[in-house]
Amino acid sequence: MSNKAIAINPTNNHSQDLVITSPASGLSLQGTITIPGDKSISHRALMLGAIASGETIIEGLLLGEDPRSTASCFRAMGAEISELNTEKVIVKGIGLGNLQEPLNILDAGNSGTTMRLMLGLLASHPDRLFVVTGDHSLRSRPMSRVIKPLAEMSATIWGRKNNSLAPLAVKGQNLKPINYHSPIASAQVKSCILLAGLMTEGKTTVTEPALSRDHSERMLQAFGAELAIDPETNSVTITGKPTLTGQKVIVPGDISSAAFWLVAAAIVPGSELLITNVGVNPTRTGILDALEMMEADITQENQRMVAGEPVADLRVKYSNLKACTISGGLIPRLIDEIPILAVAAAFAQGTTIIKDAAELRVKESDRLAVMATELNKMGAKITELPDGLEITGGNDLTGAEVDSYTDHRIAMSLAIASVRATGTTTIHRAEAASISYPNFINTLQTVISYQ
Ligand code: S3P
Repeated sequence: MSNKAIAINPTNNHSQDLVITSPASGLSLQGTITIPGDKSISHRALMLGAIASGETIIEGLLLGEDPRSTASCFRAMGAEISELNTEKVIVKGIGLGNLQEPLNILDAGNSGTTMRLMLGLLASHPDRLFVVTGDHSLRSRPMSRVIKPLAEMSATIWGRKNNSLAPLAVKGQNLKPINYHSPIASAQVKSCILLAGLMTEGKTTVTEPALSRDHSERMLQAFGAELAIDPETNSVTITGKPTLTGQKVIVPGDISSAAFWLVAAAIVPGSELLITNVGVNPTRTGILDALEMMEADITQENQRMVAGEPVADLRVKYSNLKACTISGGLIPRLIDEIPILAVAAAFAQGTTIIKDAAELRVKESDRLAVMATELNKMGAKITELPDGLEITGGNDLTGAEVDSYTDHRIAMSLAIASVRATGTTTIHRAEAASISYPNFINTLQTVISYQ
């Protein structure tokens, strides 16, 4: 019986509807899940591997569309990257400063991380011209947040809308170091400046208002860069012109992908899932803190360090969730998990408030507007705030026709909501899930069980 609830109906060559039919009772989620590799770490491993000297071996790379965009950009600039697979990717680095002028436009696809991090490297490669673009969504996402600090370092970048939107043209330069106080807690901004600082003589410092994910810092140090980190002020200083040496990188499972299963098992009565090999870097575990506030039943087992990143297995069981408030310094630690937390809140008793999260409006879609609109179509009670959501939970949701807006995390969040809802939900453009989780729908099919 286990495949009965889910059908995937391709409607044309470009777009797929995901149709999920859930019974009013008798369905739960059971089993053990291995999630795909961490997206942030996968991008960084490919990039640092490409610009280091010698060979980098990557195990557990995410095979989603986003890392594929990074690999193709760096191949176009001279790095030799073997065929992407999860077992072993070999990157033959070309050495710091040696990215070649590409013969064509670099395409970052849907990936903000590819575009923003890469800009730091391109801007700091003198005497080369680079043109960078992306898909419809990425071409509407703000690039001034990285162009402004890079311009302070004397980078030359042109773009649409007063140099703020892609396509962008970059004329590489010798940059000068800066001490930059970022107005937003963003790992993409921080990492862009640190990567520009790699090629810049002297010390480049970035300070952020709250700590964002620190994968760049960990991996840059592992590859041989000299970093000084001040946790009191959330600042990082990089010393330019290090020797970077290829490394072995073991990519842990992505907690942002695990989040869908954590919430799924927490809201579907009778469920129990074990999610193995999840990266639990403290800059990423805000989802665990938020679900703990909601009284979810989650335990961390087998905690260990793998190649410089903390990893654990997560066991989650159904429980009665309670509303909570999510704000402040917690937001950057769960920035990508807010769509699925909105689903958890829709099934929690009481009113959950999410605030200080205006950043969600400039992700792959306006995630505040989209989650409120689409979950409300299923009967949720969500009010949009300028910088968050107010979610009155505890009502049963019913199936409806909804849309992913081509945003991977929206597609998967709506799929989990429809497993707990009653009736049939059709999610348009659900294929967006493959940006970060190509096997999501198969895995969903394998964990559904009927009493
Ligand atoms: C990422 C940083 C975050 C996150 C994105 C990945 C990264 O973006 O939302 O999915 O890999 O550095 P911001 O830096 O814009 O918050």
